[in-house]
Amino acid sequence: MTGSNNRTPLIAGNWKMNTTAEEGHALAVGILEGISARAVGFSTVGCDIGFYPPATSLGLIADLCSTFEGCRVLVGAQNMHAETSGAFTGEISSAMVLSCGADSVLLGHSERRHVFNETDSEIGAKMETAVDAGLTAVLCVGETIEERDAENTTEVVGNQLEAGLEKLTEAAQLEEVIIAYEPVWAIGTGRTATPAQAQEVHAFIREQLGSAFEKRGAKGAGHEKTRILYGGSVKPDNAAELLSQPDIDGALVGGASLDAESFLGICEGCG
Ligand code: 13P
Repeated sequence: MTGSNNRTPLIAGNWKMNTTAEEGHALAVGILEGISARAVGFSTVGCDIGFYPPATSLGLIADLCSTFEGCRVLVGAQNMHAETSGAFTGEISSAMVLSCGADSVLLGHSERRHVFNETDSEIGAKMETAVDAGLTAVLCVGETIEERDAENTTEVVGNQLEAGLEKLTEAAQLEEVIIAYEPVWAIGTGRTATPAQAQEVHAFIREQLGSAFEKRGAKGAGHEKTRILYGGSVKPDNAAELLSQPDIDGALVGGASLDAESFLGICEGCG
């Protein structure tokens, strides 16, 4: 269902380093079949879904989704390099993502930032490459528990946002961006931000996006169209309340996206 704000909710599964090609295929088939079976409420004007499988299954999952008509499906990589080619063993480029039939990429996920030490400026460079290549770039931002306890949440998230969008100098480029707010302390911990805590940061992000669009000379209210997803221990039993918040336009789901029924349960939270 498209809300009064005209933003179609997006429920996206970040599979992280889980699923072989065979397992990922079975998972995606289960979800697509579930959506078809529950067609009421999942018409083409219902929620969009997204799959972010490991790079090794990207082509397979993109192929599978390419003919699906039950709802819009984004398929994307979990990361990519800022350079378009070269001697970067183990990395993948935007063109490789596109050549798999995928149309999106997650960038700046907290595990990339905190486990692989990606910096804001690297993430900003990747954002530029991704958007220039025509990919829908999902910029992930979020504070650690120490940062929240020190009341630095908006400063941290504001800085990540600014650095992530810095190289997108045109308002039209910003339109290709989705933001995912994922408080680090809520990821994989079972500890979800309360709907009010999440809404507060989402509203702040939307306000920041408003300034970003304005700075780039946008005439309309582009920030009112940008989808801002919440991520961090989203489950079927807490999804509906989170998704009912005015600035929460969907979810980026880790653990619960690895089971078709629980992913579908979260989709049902879109109402
Ligand atoms: P969990 O849903 O497992 O907390 O993971 C969230 C996440 O990191 C999605 O990108």
